[in-house]
Amino acid sequence: MLEVRDLSKSFGALAVTQRVSLRVAPGERRVLLGPNGAGKTTLFNLLVGELAPDSGLILVDGRDVTALSVDARARLGLARSYQKNNLFAGLTVHENLALSAACAQGKATALLADSHRDRGVVATVEEVAERVGLSELLDASVDTIPYGARRRLEVGLALASKPRILLMDEPTSGIGPGGINAFHAFLHGLPAELTILIVEHDMDLAFGIADRVTVLNHGEVVFDGPPQEARDSALIREIYLGSWGAEGGGHA
Ligand SMILES: Nc1ncnc2c1ncn2[C@@H]1O[C@H](COP(=O)(O)OP(=O)(O)OP(=O)(O)O)[C@@H](O)[C@H]1O
Ligand SMILES: [Mg+2]
Repeated sequence: MLEVRDLSKSFGALAVTQRVSLRVAPGERRVLLGPNGAGKTTLFNLLVGELAPDSGLILVDGRDVTALSVDARARLGLARSYQKNNLFAGLTVHENLALSAACAQGKATALLADSHRDRGVVATVEEVAERVGLSELLDASVDTIPYGARRRLEVGLALASKPRILLMDEPTSGIGPGGINAFHAFLHGLPAELTILIVEHDMDLAFGIADRVTVLNHGEVVFDGPPQEARDSALIREIYLGSWGAEGGGHA
């Protein structure tokens, strides 16, 4: 489904992605861990095409997409949500979701004027809003909704393109324990065939959802295996300096 081979990227002298290789199976839930600056977000930027690698390959269903644009990769089913909210300011929740859905449905020219009328767009907006718990807030401006709702809308924008591979970059950051429990339920409700890569620092959530865990440190894959092995790994504990475990995790 998604494969990365020997992917490398440097910013000047700083090697942020170093010969990263990964294979993510269809429907897999892959959790990506690693301390601040490990290169997690950079890897997502490379996967969706927002950054070009210096070397290495990215394959979707066996097809080399390394040279394809962001849009072309989106058409193959890749979508990502951002670590920092990347919403369309000044617009409503409905309009945000409609923009994403309309672009994905090739209706970008009609866009806002028709976003309340186009049946394909409206159906997607309503379905996604329901999934991310925003049905009651569709007509609210994104500038006025609570932080947790903004984080959910961030994921909703990615879902509105109906991806086959969804990358989520710290979707639960700053939303508190109640939000994390709700997010867990949301993940369980997603279609089993959706392939998910998620950067998640809440260890209970990460280990609760992961089929497999990949740990990056200084841009390198230092662990790739089942969650139980990750939990027991002395190397990973050392990298996180004991920041998970007894107190249930946290950001390193
Ligand atoms: N556009 C850029 N130009 C220069 N350096 C960059 C750029 N983007 C990222 N970096 C550097 O690359 C390294 C990896 O950053 P990245 O954002 O991928 O880490 P991360 O694992 O997502 O960290 P965090 O947990 O803080 O989100 C960092 O040292 C960062 O400063
Ligand atoms: Mg990051």
